[in-house]
Amino acid sequence: MASVKLEGVWKVFGNVVAVRDVNLYIEDKEFVSILGPSGSGKTTLLYLIAGIYKPSRGRIYFNDVDVTDLPPNKRNIGLVFQNYALYPHMTVYENIAFPLRLRNFGEPAIKEKVLSVAKLLGIEGLLDRYPAQLSGGQQQRVALARALVKEPEVLLLDEPLSNLDALLRIKIRSELKKLQKELGITAIYVTHDQSEALAMADRIAIIASGVIQQVGKPWDVYYKPRNVFVASFIGTPPANLVSVPLDSSRRCLLLPGGGRYCPPRRIAEKLAAVKTNSVILGFRPEVAVLSESPLGDYVSMEAEVYTVETLGRENIVTLLVNGSQVKVIVPPVVEPRPGSRIFINIEEDKVMYFDPETEINVEYLEVPGMEEAIAESAGTLRKQEMEEEWD
Ligand SMILES: Nc1ncnc2c1ncn2[C@@H]1O[C@H](COP(=O)(O)OP(=O)(O)OP(=O)(O)O)[C@@H](O)[C@H]1O
Ligand SMILES: [Mg+2]
Repeated sequence: MASVKLEGVWKVFGNVVAVRDVNLYIEDKEFVSILGPSGSGKTTLLYLIAGIYKPSRGRIYFNDVDVTDLPPNKRNIGLVFQNYALYPHMTVYENIAFPLRLRNFGEPAIKEKVLSVAKLLGIEGLLDRYPAQLSGGQQQRVALARALVKEPEVLLLDEPLSNLDALLRIKIRSELKKLQKELGITAIYVTHDQSEALAMADRIAIIASGVIQQVGKPWDVYYKPRNVFVASFIGTPPANLVSVPLDSSRRCLLLPGGGRYCPPRRIAEKLAAVKTNSVILGFRPEVAVLSESPLGDYVSMEAEVYTVETLGRENIVTLLVNGSQVKVIVPPVVEPRPGSRIFINIEEDKVMYFDPETEINVEYLEVPGMEEAIAESAGTLRKQEMEEEWD
């Protein structure tokens, strides 16, 4: 099995930079999703790993061996494309056997391997059929069987479930993850569907305009988005963003509705380092509580109710705050009247802060000299105590 490493990888087509300076390490047996909008460079990145494209710059390693100049058939990969690309004139059996015939396997070995992988994917009853006689989900399994039969070290999948209906997608995605773990294959899975990425991946690499925005576990990219793009790309509805002025000390926020809120020192130090007079405040729709007056111990903003969508299990309330629309998920009994004034309350540690200029989450900012500044102001505090306080 194999780890995959990309070092400073670029791919330029004419004047389009499809992939820009990507550095990515994928562990052996890891399942990594590459998630991004249409045209962000996902397929290009996958084809670079597969060897279908050669990088314009940078190197690619499998297990620390430089494979940058190796063609796809020397890389021990399995590829599954979005459109399955089964051979229509071959039976399922022959489709799956094809990669083995290319490698000159003998007939008994081919039969054994095809039957074994077909059984694994539950398609052993379909081996005599032609692709046109299969459903989309069955074709998908055949494509997967054909990729797996070579026992690849790295399985590369490009939006493999996008042609299937929603129910089948959910069913196959859990099977696929289980299979990947059972076989111990390294998997790189391209999708623009964030729920698929969050559900399947050990880690997600979020890409926009050819640039990796963040790589992290589903929990990290959801609750600790590195920038505005990730915050507003992940989540349904995505994170809310409101521009809020800072006071003259640049350590406290002047909240809509008149409240003044001074975040904990850990955040305040970073806000003070941001060279603007405002900050983008972010919060997830499900962390906010609505109330008629501000709740103590919460960060509270006044808002106007715009619309209420009743979805059965929950309601989604759209509100206007400082000219921005925000969405809050509330229990079905909460149904505020459109046009009324109301307060949005968020727990202190659920609030995110982004620098309006760079759009970076301030938690990720390295503030130079901060440690020393704290040490000075902390006076007699022992270092260990300080570290505990700042954790
Ligand atoms: N062979 C090519 N020649 C020229 N430009 C290309 C080529 N392949 C991709 N591009 C461009 O590179 C960018 C990234 O394309 P890519 O196919 O990697 O996007 P993607 O994230 O896979 O999108 P989608 O979700 O729509 O499949 C796009 O702007 C695309 O037009
Ligand atoms: Mg693509």
